[in-house]
Amino acid sequence: MSQEDNKPAPQSAAAPANATPAPPKKPRGRLQLDMSVNVAGIALRNPILAASGTFGYGVEFEDIVSLDKIGGFVVKGLSKEPMAGNPPPRLFETAAGMLNAIGLQNIGARAFIEEKLPRLRKINGAVVIANVYGYCPEDYEETIRILNDGEGIAAYELNVSCPNVRYGGITFGQDPYLLSEVVAGAKAASKRPLIVKLSPNVTSIGKMARAAEDAGADAVSLVNTFLAMAIDPITRRPRISNITAGLSGPAIKPIALRMVYEASQSVKIPVIGIGGISTAEDVVEFLLAGATAVEVGTANFWDPRACERLVDELERWCLEQHIESVASLRGGLLLG
Ligand SMILES: Cc1cc2nc3c(=O)[nH]c(=O)nc-3n(C[C@H](O)[C@H](O)[C@H](O)COP(=O)(O)O)c2cc1C
Repeated sequence: MSQEDNKPAPQSAAAPANATPAPPKKPRGRLQLDMSVNVAGIALRNPILAASGTFGYGVEFEDIVSLDKIGGFVVKGLSKEPMAGNPPPRLFETAAGMLNAIGLQNIGARAFIEEKLPRLRKINGAVVIANVYGYCPEDYEETIRILNDGEGIAAYELNVSCPNVRYGGITFGQDPYLLSEVVAGAKAASKRPLIVKLSPNVTSIGKMARAAEDAGADAVSLVNTFLAMAIDPITRRPRISNITAGLSGPAIKPIALRMVYEASQSVKIPVIGIGGISTAEDVVEFLLAGATAVEVGTANFWDPRACERLVDELERWCLEQHIESVASLRGGLLLG
């Protein structure tokens, strides 16, 4: 962890003669900033993770981002068998955001273990989280069993919130009973910590977070994308072949923040905040709302170095604010 000189306090105007004497100033030594956080037993060097679907399998970013400098990354959603995803167009830029309906195109869990993991293992200190998708509870369990054999995976993130597939995904994330079933099965199959990624397309996020916790989740992450759409007024056709798509990016940040706050109030397990994060201040807002760590998604599309940049920016922000431990920011929101 790098160190930096603590900034001197600004000089105040001369105090009036009758003023109460100021308390003695603490000696300003070198501030030792601790950026580390712990999510369900996973030690992270800092709270910045790359979000699933926006960072490939990690290996694609190897030459651009120091994968051992960011907190970690969540790989593209993996299924038991490879998936082709939806036909194009699958992406569309909106005001301060992006629509996507990729449809979970991926190489499958076995190919991930054989083709990508060996390379990731060579990057000392990279924290790899595998995002898991299934059509039914048995699919999730089988995919996890396949991944259990892969060395070098820190945890699983269960995607029960994808809005862009016809079966599975969001179906589980919108019904607390189905969510409990899929989480309990996945937990029983898993030999690693289980993070459950929640959908924002629900009425009560607190209720869904609690259902995940009660069924055995070690942590929850939220949010996935918001169900949305766009139409080309000239052709009168949907902008995305799937008709509806998931909205992400800065446009969703205030809603995601509210949901992270509500989820954090509802569960005891760690919460990972996701949604429109692109600055150090965004990260701090999510931590203050109750998140232990954050994931950065759409920002990787306009700045592939976004995660590494945010680590530097967060460090600078903490030093400027005389924060000694990033973990101490969690839930620090002041009310009243
Ligand atoms: C192109 C794209 C693909 C995505 N694929 C996945 C996925 O495979 N699994 C998953 O859980 N979330 C997926 N997501 C959702 C993101 O991980 C994240 O939850 C969401 O985009 C909100 O964060 P952001 O506003 O920082 O992008 C995807 C998002 C985008 C934009």
